[in-house]
Amino acid sequence: MTEQRKVILSGNRPTGRLHIGHLFGVLENWAKLQSEYETYFEVADWHALTTKYRDTETMKQDIEDMVIDWLVSGISPEKSVIFVQSHIKQHAELHILFSMLVSLSRLLRNPTLKEYIAEKETLKLKTEKKTLNKIAANITHKIINENEERRGVLEGKIKEFVLSELSENLFSEDTEVPYGDIVNYGFLGYPVLQAADILIYRAHVVPIGKDQLPHLELTREIARRFNSLYGQVFPIPEPLLNEFAKVPGTDGRKMSKSYGNTILIGEDTQSLKKKIMSSYTDPQKIRKNDPGHPDTCPIFQYHLIFNRENTDIIKNECIKGIRGCVQCKKEIFSKMDEFMEPYREKRATFEKKRDLVWDIIKEGDKKARVKAEETMEIVREKMRINY
Ligand code: TRP
Repeated sequence: MTEQRKVILSGNRPTGRLHIGHLFGVLENWAKLQSEYETYFEVADWHALTTKYRDTETMKQDIEDMVIDWLVSGISPEKSVIFVQSHIKQHAELHILFSMLVSLSRLLRNPTLKEYIAEKETLKLKTEKKTLNKIAANITHKIINENEERRGVLEGKIKEFVLSELSENLFSEDTEVPYGDIVNYGFLGYPVLQAADILIYRAHVVPIGKDQLPHLELTREIARRFNSLYGQVFPIPEPLLNEFAKVPGTDGRKMSKSYGNTILIGEDTQSLKKKIMSSYTDPQKIRKNDPGHPDTCPIFQYHLIFNRENTDIIKNECIKGIRGCVQCKKEIFSKMDEFMEPYREKRATFEKKRDLVWDIIKEGDKKARVKAEETMEIVREKMRINY
C-alpha cells in the first residue's frame, strides 16, 4: 500500500507577475514541499474579486502571469495540483454551508476587515478634503472675479454651487464603494471562503504569511464546529509560516507592488539595469570615499543573496570608503542579470504559448475537482442534505 501523504493547500490572489520577494519568501518554500506532501496551489480569483470586482479586464492575464511565475519557479504540474478557484464550483457550495456556522460578530472581529475599513475611511476622508479644497479654490476664484455690487447674488450662487459640488463629488458613482458603504458582503465572507478553500481538500498544513494567521484561525474554528455538529470530517489545519523574505525593495522598504520597488522574477536586462542603477543606497555615502553602512543598504542585501562569495570583501571596502556605490551596483547588476537568465528562458516559452498555461490549469482543475467533490459528498451526507 502506498503511504498516504499529508495534504498541503496554499494560494494567492492573481496579482500578475511576481517579484523576487515572492520567489525567496514563498515560491521556493512551496517548491520544496512538493516532494513531501500532496500539494494543492490555488489561484484565488474569487478572493481577488471581493475588492477588484470593478476592474476585471486584466484578471485573465493576471492569472496567466502569476501561474507562469509559479511554473518557472519550480512549482511542477507533475508534483502539484495547480488550479483556479472559480473553476471548482464546490468551493462556493462549501462556502455557503460554512456561512451558517459563523456569526456576524465573529466576522466583524477579523483584523483584515478592520484594517480594510480603516484604510477606506482614510481614503474617504482624503477624498472629502480634496473636494472641500477644490470648492474653496473655486469660491475664491468666483469672488475675485465679481464686483462689489453683486455680492448678494453671488452668495446665492455660491450656496447653489457648493451643494452641487458636494453631491457630485461625495455621492458620485465612481468612488470605489458608494459613500457610506464600506464593506461588501463578499469581503465580509472572505475568510469563510478561504476556510472552504482549505478544508475542501482536507488540508493538514497551510503555508501562509503571518498576515494570514487570523484567517487560518477562523478556518480551524469552522472545522472544529463542523466536526462537532455533524461528525469528524476535517483535519484541523496547521499553519506553516513562510520564511520571512529578507530581500528589500529598491527603495529599501519591504518589496511590494504597491510601493513600486519590485524586481520581477525574470526581469528583463534593460529594466533590471535601470532599477538597480537607480536604487536607493546609503544616503550618508555621497562620495566614493565616504564610509558606507552596508547593513541598511538594499544593494548590499542583494549582494548577500546573489553574490554571497564576495560579501566580506565588499562590506569591508564599503565601510572603509574604498568602494563606491556605482561599482557596487554594476557588480550586483551583472550577478542578478545572470541569475534571471533561466527564469527568462522558461518564461519566454510560456509567453509564446499562453494556451500551455491553460492546459496545465485544466489538468489541475480536474484533479482538484475530484478531491473537492469527494469531500462534498461526505459533507452532504454528514449534514443529511444529500437528497
Ligand atoms: N487570502 C490569501 C492571501 O491574500 C489567499 C488565499 C486564498 C489563500 N485562499 C487561500 C491562502 C487558502 C492560503 C490558503 O494571501
